[in-house]
Amino acid sequence: MAIGAKAREAFLNDVLAGLSAAPRALPCKYFYDARGSALFEAICESPEYYVTRADLALHEAHIGAISDHIGPEAHVIEFGSGSGVKTRKLLAALHQPRAYTPIEISRAALNASARQLARDFPDIEIRPLQADYTLDIDADTLQLDPPSRRRVVYFPGSTIGNFDHDEAEAFLARMGRIARANGAILIGVDLMKSESALVAAYDDAQGITAAFNRNLLDRMRNELDARIEPDVFAHEARFNAAEGRIEMHLVARAATAIEVGGQRFDFAAGESIHTENSYKYSVKAFRELAGRAGLVSKHVWKDPEGLFSMHWLETA
Ligand code: AVI
Repeated sequence: MAIGAKAREAFLNDVLAGLSAAPRALPCKYFYDARGSALFEAICESPEYYVTRADLALHEAHIGAISDHIGPEAHVIEFGSGSGVKTRKLLAALHQPRAYTPIEISRAALNASARQLARDFPDIEIRPLQADYTLDIDADTLQLDPPSRRRVVYFPGSTIGNFDHDEAEAFLARMGRIARANGAILIGVDLMKSESALVAAYDDAQGITAAFNRNLLDRMRNELDARIEPDVFAHEARFNAAEGRIEMHLVARAATAIEVGGQRFDFAAGESIHTENSYKYSVKAFRELAGRAGLVSKHVWKDPEGLFSMHWLETA
């Protein structure tokens, strides 16, 4: 599907800036066009990518306790469309919820999910809000909500891991402002594990993650008319122990060049474009990060295998 002129311009500017930087890097948000989103769904089904299964197992094991923490008459605000199984488990477990607000940038995804949820949970007031939750959400936008005992911002999955520490801290602080005083944040956080498990999860044997990473090059070709030699860039997952993260790269197998937007970017063999960071945390490290954002981690749940965690963070 063709993208709009503004979106194309933003993509081009980010590509030109990213390929001019040293080291070269592209923002991971560009993975998620329709094909990239479908590939991400396929990654979640792959045997090596434990994250989605562990997050779901955590919900299955602890949804009662989570719901007790949320308490009665809460307003649950989800960062995301609410189309997933986890949201349904949460909504089904809530005690007399006051309202549920999914926040999602795609109006189509938001409306489809809100319609379905309204049908399946007729007793819950569903209040979809179209917005980009990665940007500052005007506090007034959420001011009109019904009175509730507390606001709980719900962010399952492990997207917080895709932010650098400074960005994650700012993002958590923003969630805290939305939750307001006496509010809470329920956030999924992937736990640190062995290099071999992480490299396998981000470089699966079927090559789905490789296709997901290389889809960025296809987007550049299709949407920006970029000239990129076929098959010259290889997918690589690199564990960075010092930074506590797994990285994805597109590595030039041989000397090559990318031509885009009237500019030419030369690559030596082995040179890479860094396309994603996925930070993994210990419980202690994430508690400290949350503390820097002015939040207190009062409870942590883990899935039965201890792969994934969910923190209950309280505002002051
Ligand atoms: C969306 N995000 C949490 C995924 C992750 O694990 O960092 C994206 C992903 N990248 C490669 N595989 C999955």
